[in-house]
Amino acid sequence: MSETVSPSSLVIAVDGPAAAGKGTLARRLADALGLACLDSGALYRAVGLAVLHAGGDPADEAAAAAAARTLDTGRLSDPALRTPEAGDAASKVAAFPSVREALLEFQRRFAREPPAGCRGAVLDGRDIGTVVCPDAPVKIFVTASPDERARRRFAELQAAGAKAIYAAVLSELAERDDRDSNRAVAPLKPADDAAILDTSTLDADTAFRAALEIVAQRAPGWRRLVQDVR
Ligand code: DC
Repeated sequence: MSETVSPSSLVIAVDGPAAAGKGTLARRLADALGLACLDSGALYRAVGLAVLHAGGDPADEAAAAAAARTLDTGRLSDPALRTPEAGDAASKVAAFPSVREALLEFQRRFAREPPAGCRGAVLDGRDIGTVVCPDAPVKIFVTASPDERARRRFAELQAAGAKAIYAAVLSELAERDDRDSNRAVAPLKPADDAAILDTSTLDADTAFRAALEIVAQRAPGWRRLVQDVR
């Protein structure tokens, strides 16, 4: 058992590929159920960005591991982490076992001892259900077709005023999927006991209700609260 969670607390693992909607879903679940929320991708983005800012190469394992070991986890909401450059650097540093190892305990502690007196936590990422919190009672693997994910990412970039070309967004996503899914350590894949939530044809509200249903099924102690939220 890699985490010790008291019976009344709840850990929800939300994993999935880039732009599948898992961040939005994780945040909504956390807000609705009064849980703390950790976007683990922000940790990898912060490491990638720290390497870039120091003039290093995110594909250099020694530089990436040093950045991971000295990471300031208090700045995970920095908007600079949301840029495509940070995402690309994140995907590179995330392939290194030493980087993943350096970030593991922070994530496990967040799940075990959520901040602000919360009764549990939602963590989203790629390996939460498989590696970080393999004992989480609720695991949701959020996915969507590559076209749909590219369409959403493209719309996000346009709304933010960034210049974007749909074909380029689609091929960057495919590249990241490939890197995240085929790396040797903690590759992107659903845990054997994860519920698969395909959001290709679902809007955000419908996906949220489907996720609440999964929570109600898998965490019976939380059913009443889920009913109140619905
Ligand atoms: O979810 P995101 O786009 O912010 O993630 C950025 C990169 O970080 C992604 O390409 C893969 C990596 N990542 C990871 O390997 N493991 C996680 N738990 C979260 C993110």
